[in-house]
This record gives sequence, structure tokens and C-alpha cells, in this order.
Amino acid sequence: METKTVKSSSTSLTTYHLVRGMDLNHHGTLFAGKAALLFVESGFIVSSLALNTKEIVCLRIHGMLFKRPIQSGDTIGLTSQIIYSGRTSVGVYVRVFVQPSKEHVVDGFLTFVKADETTHKSVPHGISIEVDDEESAILQKKYLQDK
Ligand SMILES: CC(C)(COP(=O)(O)OP(=O)(O)OC[C@H]1O[C@@H](n2cnc3c(N)ncnc32)[C@H](O)[C@@H]1OP(=O)(O)O)[C@@H](O)C(=O)NCCC(=O)NCCS
Repeated sequence: METKTVKSSSTSLTTYHLVRGMDLNHHGTLFAGKAALLFVESGFIVSSLALNTKEIVCLRIHGMLFKRPIQSGDTIGLTSQIIYSGRTSVGVYVRVFVQPSKEHVVDGFLTFVKADETTHKSVPHGISIEVDDEESAILQKKYLQDK
């Protein structure tokens, strides 16, 4: 299989979500389970676009850290970027921030694996991520330390 090189920065994508009633916990702030759903969804979209396939599965959610509660009525942005590629896996960094202050409230990593549609076994994805900025290089190091 031919390997295509992709710059890490070119995979970055931001999606937005308005936090409202159905997203809340009993404290009236964003429920961690809902935050995790949005977090994984954001990473999935970025990985699926970069690998040009829907045949990926989430192997791992790591280091997801909630720095402070997110209030009802807040609009949050989720920026995901691939910071690592292996043979069958990619490592994605997700940062969640509140609009309009851009205050960083949640972050962490995800690992997605390309899986064969029929056998569901891991298969090569054919992408090589080239880290092209200092922040991504630091994130890649952090990701690999925890792998
Ligand atoms: C994902 C899955 C197909 C991988 O199974 P597998 O073929 O036995 O796994 P492998 O040992 O070949 O590893 C696959 C990749 O994961 C990586 N990996 C394994 N453990 C890891 C860990 N703890 N952290 C990060 N990456 C890890 C491996 O390094 C490999 O990547 P590489 O090829 O880029 O080096 C299998 O574990 C699975 O089906 N899991 C369930 C997924 C799921 O249902 N997710 C929820 C719904 S999306």
C-alpha cells in the first residue's frame, strides 16, 4: 500500500456545540458522559476525514481532563488534530474551549484504529502524519509517553 504524508496542522478541525438542558448533570453543568460523546465524535470526524474512511474504531480515550465546569448556555468549541500515526492507528489530540473567551476547559487524547469492514481486525491506514509545529511535537511526545 502506498503511504501518503499529511501535515499534522492540515488535519485540525473545530466543531461547535451549544450546551443546553439535555446535556446537563444534576449540578446543572455539562454532564461528563455528554462531553465524552462530543469529544469522541470530534476525534472521529477528524480521523475519518484524514484517513478517508468510516471504517475506524475508537481503541482508547486517554487523559481526558475537565479543568472546570461548563455552564448551560455556553457554546463550546472542540478542536481535534491528528498528532501521531502508526501503521493501523492514529493519535488525536482534542481541546475543548468556551466561546467567546476561548478558555480551555477540557483536553485529552484518543486512539483510533482502521478496522477491516468484514473481519473487524486492524488494517494499515496508509497515512503518515508529519508534525509541522512545535505544539504538535510536544503533544506527540506526551501521547507516546502514555501509549
Ligand atoms: C481496535 C481493535 C480492532 C484492535 O485490535 P487488534 O487488531 O488486536 O489490535 P493491535 O494489537 O493490532 O493494535 C492495533 C493498533 O492499536 C495500537 N494500540 C494498541 N494498544 C494501544 C494503547 N493502549 N494505546 C494506544 N495505541 C494502542 C497498536 O500499537 C496498533 O497501532 P499501530 O498499528 O499503529 O502500531 C480491537 O481492539 C477492537 O475491536 N476494539 C474495540 C473497538 C470498539 O468497539 N470501539 C468502540 C466503538 S468505535
